[in-house]
Amino acid sequence: MTQNIDLKCFPYSYEELERLAAENTSPEAFDYVQSGSSTEQTLRTNVQAFSSYAFKPRVCTGTKAVDSKIEIFGKEYPFPIFFAPVGNQKVVHPEGELASARAAKRLNVPYIASTVSSHTIEEIAEASGNGDRWFQLYATKDQDVTNSLISRAEKNGYTAIVLTVDMAPSWRVKDMRNQFLPAEMVKELLTEEELNDLFNYETYLGLAPVKVDEVLASYYNSPYAKEEGK
Ligand SMILES: Cc1cc2nc3c(=O)[nH]c(=O)nc-3n(C[C@H](O)[C@H](O)[C@H](O)COP(=O)(O)O)c2cc1C
Repeated sequence: MTQNIDLKCFPYSYEELERLAAENTSPEAFDYVQSGSSTEQTLRTNVQAFSSYAFKPRVCTGTKAVDSKIEIFGKEYPFPIFFAPVGNQKVVHPEGELASARAAKRLNVPYIASTVSSHTIEEIAEASGNGDRWFQLYATKDQDVTNSLISRAEKNGYTAIVLTVDMAPSWRVKDMRNQFLPAEMVKELLTEEELNDLFNYETYLGLAPVKVDEVLASYYNSPYAKEEGK
């Protein structure tokens, strides 16, 4: 397993991993993935809250029976850590979600595909092959669009829906500073008109009055729903 890994460069800690990511991605991509919105207070609070969790050592109980397996939805997985939905992954690598889906399959855990993936539902399903995959849904006001997404997910072997309900337009200072617009990345998937109408810089920055569900619906109306024209 380790034979192709340069162990001197291998990141042994989160900080090293973060440093390597910074060195190997564009500043815009790094900031998009790493930063939080506004003053980043929520990001700091989350990190702090997470650090209050600890492993509880159970000593003198024997080590042979250590088992991290879990069962969910009638299936067994080797550990309870899955691939969280992360959109726009092409920003960090051209293979984006396809590579992540393949990695999840190799690890035998579900890949959770984001609604705003930079590859289509069908392409990700193909990359995931016989691996487990779930679909993360941003529901829109347009029920037809939502239904279309769900039915494409079903048709393409996604076995669960992960419903995200907390997305809101945010004021992301680093993206603003970098003039970074994730929609730029999916340019080839959008018509010029949609890009101009809905993903101009002002809109992205939240300066123009725009409803998130309308923005998302515009996404769905072309690239992500190309199968059913929704
Ligand atoms: C760059 C980035 C993109 C994300 N994209 C999505 C997304 O498209 N859909 C979604 O439901 N959550 C998305 N998330 C949220 C993650 O799935 C996850 O819930 C969140 O990052 C909290 O987990 P963490 O503390 O391990 O980062 C994204 C997070 C990041 C950092």
